[in-house]
Amino acid sequence: MQEGMDKLELQLKEEVGNVQDLDELNNIRIRYLGKKGEITLLIRNMSKLSAEERPVFGKKLNELKASAETMLKLRKKELSSKLSTKRWEKERVDVTLPGKPFNLGRRHPITLVLQEIEDIFIYMGFIIAEGPEVELDYYNFEALNMPRHHPARDMQDSFYINSKMLLRTHTSPMEVRVMEAQAPELPVRIISPGKVYRRDDDVTHSPMFHQIEGLAVDKGITFADLKGTLLFFIKEMFGKDRDIRLRPSYFPFVEPGAEVDISCISCDGKGCRVCGGTGWLEILGAGMSHPRVLEVSGYDPEKVTGFAFGMGVERIAMLKYGIDDIRLFYTNDLRLLRNY
Ligand code: PHE
Repeated sequence: MQEGMDKLELQLKEEVGNVQDLDELNNIRIRYLGKKGEITLLIRNMSKLSAEERPVFGKKLNELKASAETMLKLRKKELSSKLSTKRWEKERVDVTLPGKPFNLGRRHPITLVLQEIEDIFIYMGFIIAEGPEVELDYYNFEALNMPRHHPARDMQDSFYINSKMLLRTHTSPMEVRVMEAQAPELPVRIISPGKVYRRDDDVTHSPMFHQIEGLAVDKGITFADLKGTLLFFIKEMFGKDRDIRLRPSYFPFVEPGAEVDISCISCDGKGCRVCGGTGWLEILGAGMSHPRVLEVSGYDPEKVTGFAFGMGVERIAMLKYGIDDIRLFYTNDLRLLRNY
């Protein structure tokens, strides 16, 4: 029996020494110390021994059991720390490696130009008023002096949602919305930027584009105020050397109406390919608010006058950056976008 116990101890020592993972170590524990483990069975079989043998082997068996437990415990500690070191080595970060490049985004050229235009008008005391892109026929046309079947509607054929609603064809509906929402004694100085939609699609026209509307209403506002405001804007935007020219034009919601040209950026007014030899570039529509528009918006045309203007942001961006195809703004080609 003594011999068997010594052999068992040696065998256990060897197995514990060779084992490399914790699950396997636990299996060894079960095989020796579990309910049907070899050491457990020896202890259980002690009842078969004689009265003299029992205390002697009992003591030895207890010692064996204790030594087995110690061996297993020590090995468990050893393995755990070895494994956690291994895991740490695998997962650790090498802080000396070069970092991953982080691409910074930037503003789209249309946004840049939009913000530049806004800044100039904010400097002059205008505030920003934004409105809905899905607009009522009433605000887009009706209140702007373009009743149903008015021929001026043809130029702005749009996308109708139903018979009363459409995607706005210009930002002018905001003139009416702003005046309507405000007490008629109060003066107005607003610009209204945003997207507009028209059934147009070529190198210089896109079915969706951006406009900025301007409106100033007050006692004694004149055409000279309109011209002065636009001249200041153009010089801020395109440089002190630019001049403007106003040509009579027709928009149903202004009277008189004008189309505003700037002296050609490319040839300084001498005439070139960019301006088609005229020396001038058309840049926006403007005029004095039509009395009927003031009236439907709750303002008394006998007491106040106003001027309004509307410009295409893409058009201005194209002139400013020398881009000749409007579609380049919407195709998200980084080779273009990275330049601004
Ligand atoms: N809304 C006009 C257009 O889109 C521009 C405009 C605005 C003209 C204000 C006059 C006054 O063509």
